[in-house]
Amino acid sequence: MARITASVYTSHVPAIGAALDLGKTQEDYWKPVFAGYDFSKQWMKDNKPDVIFLVYNDHATAFSLDLIPTFAIGTAAQFQPADEGWGPRPVPVVQGHPALASHIAQSVIQQDFDLTIVNKMDVDHGLTVPLSLMCGEQSPQTGNWPCPVIPFAVNVVQYPVPSGRRCFQLGQAIRRAVESFDEDLNVHIWGTGGMSHQLQGARAGLINREWDNAWLDQLIHDPAACAAVPHIDYVREAGSEGIELVMWLIARGAMADVAGGPAPKVAHRFYHVPASNTAVGHLILEN
Ligand code: DHB
Ligand code: FE
Repeated sequence: MARITASVYTSHVPAIGAALDLGKTQEDYWKPVFAGYDFSKQWMKDNKPDVIFLVYNDHATAFSLDLIPTFAIGTAAQFQPADEGWGPRPVPVVQGHPALASHIAQSVIQQDFDLTIVNKMDVDHGLTVPLSLMCGEQSPQTGNWPCPVIPFAVNVVQYPVPSGRRCFQLGQAIRRAVESFDEDLNVHIWGTGGMSHQLQGARAGLINREWDNAWLDQLIHDPAACAAVPHIDYVREAGSEGIELVMWLIARGAMADVAGGPAPKVAHRFYHVPASNTAVGHLILEN
């Protein structure tokens, strides 16, 4: 049977991808951001997954106001890095896992979550920046991501967005789906985006360290209470784009303790301000 052995949580600021791609990681501004992921890159090598189930949001790249799926699962064999206006990032093509993705779609839809099935989709910074942070630089020609990735896109861009509670319940359904797959696979689930940031309007530039850190504590130790935080609290306290954090609750809901198992081990925790307009948060939890 397949098992979820760990969850990873990280911000996805596009400027982090640009800093990597333009060779700026050793600059004073960026050094402390990347230093927070030194542990994580080693951890990825020591705990290599067979598949990553990567929860992220599309930023009007593959989707637009024409079509707004709340939850979309990528079932394709490959996903190309998207052109977000400066050409595609120079990173490897993302290899999917159609067999596991289709199984999860079947199981989760039968558990009453209405997923959109996506057989063709380019993936933007929401997916490729977390991969770069966790796996380091990879050449598009000679490099490769460490394993297949199932992209799972959540609408946190156009209202109405799903609640934290719905995301948390979906994570639990994904765990059951993974555990009902016959093949022995070591699966990691990632929740990405956040933490506090607001990119527009009168409060552009908003960062809320205190709220972010209290939210991280609650996510780790009392995820059910964290899942009850209403979406307006994210917007008020963490800024309009802080709502991306509900995606972390999908990954958290898939951990063993939520299904009655032991509490996860916090393998790594990191928080840094600023990276572009965003407070960078990062966690690794092991089952
Ligand atoms: C920034 C952060 C994001 O999450 C995003 O999608 C785009 C930009 C930023 O901080 O610049
Ligand atoms: Fe974003």
